[in-house]
Amino acid sequence: MTETVRNFGHVRFDAWADQYLADVENTDQADEYPFAGYRRVLEALLAAALARKPGSVLDLGIGLGLLSQRLAQAGHRITGVDFSAEMLNLARQNLPHARLIRADFAEGWPAELKDERFDLIVSSYAFHHVPQARKVAFLQRLLQGLEPAGMILIGDIAFQSEKLMQACRQASLPDWDEEEDYSIFESLKPFFREGQMSFKAVSFCAGILNLTHA
Ligand SMILES: C[S@@+](CC[C@H](N)C(=O)[O-])C[C@H]1O[C@@H](n2cnc3c(N)ncnc32)[C@H](O)[C@@H]1O
Repeated sequence: MTETVRNFGHVRFDAWADQYLADVENTDQADEYPFAGYRRVLEALLAAALARKPGSVLDLGIGLGLLSQRLAQAGHRITGVDFSAEMLNLARQNLPHARLIRADFAEGWPAELKDERFDLIVSSYAFHHVPQARKVAFLQRLLQGLEPAGMILIGDIAFQSEKLMQACRQASLPDWDEEEDYSIFESLKPFFREGQMSFKAVSFCAGILNLTHA
C-alpha cells in the first residue's frame, strides 16, 4: 500500500471503521440525514457502472470497498484511494487483488497516480470532503484522468440547488454538519460544458453527479 497523508483528518475514520457500516445503515433505514438513500445511491452507482464493459476503475474514498467489491466481481480492475489506514485494512479483506493507495484526495490528484487514466472514476459518500473552493478544480483534474469514453460517477450527500440544501439543513438541525462541503449541482454546472455534467437526486439529501468528456 502506498502512502501520502499529511493531515490528520483520517483519525476520525480510523476510529469509525469497525462501526461505520452499522451506523450508515441505521441512518439510511431511519430515512434521516446524512445517510438517507445510502443503499439506493450505491445500487444506482453499481447499475451505472455495471452497464459499462469491465475496465479500470478509480474509487476515491473507497472505505470498506463495498462498491468496488461488486465491480471487481464483474471483472473491473480496482484502484482505491483512502486516507484511513483502518478503512484500507478492511477494504483489503474485501478486495484482495485491488491496488490500494493511502492518500488525501482533498489535496488533489494523488501523486501515486501520476498521468494514469481510468475508464471509470467512482466515489461514494466521500466527495464532500473536498473543500468547496477546490471542487471545480478537482473535478477538472478528474476529467484529465479519464479515458476518452470514460465516466465519473459521484454518489454523495448532494443537492440540486442551494435552496434544497438549506431546506435539508433546517430540517436536520441540530445534526447538520457545518464542516462538510456538499455539492450543489446548479453551482458546479456552469463550470462545465453544456451536457457534460448531470445530477440525479436519490433522496432528500443524496444524489449522483455524472460527468463525461462529451
Ligand atoms: C463516509 S465514508 C464512505 C466510504 C465508502 N465509499 C462508502 O460508500 O461506504 C468516507 C470515506 O472517505 C475517506 N476519506 C474522507 N476524506 C478523505 C480524503 N480527504 N482523502 C482520502 N480519503 C478520504 C474516509 O476515510 C472514508 O473511508
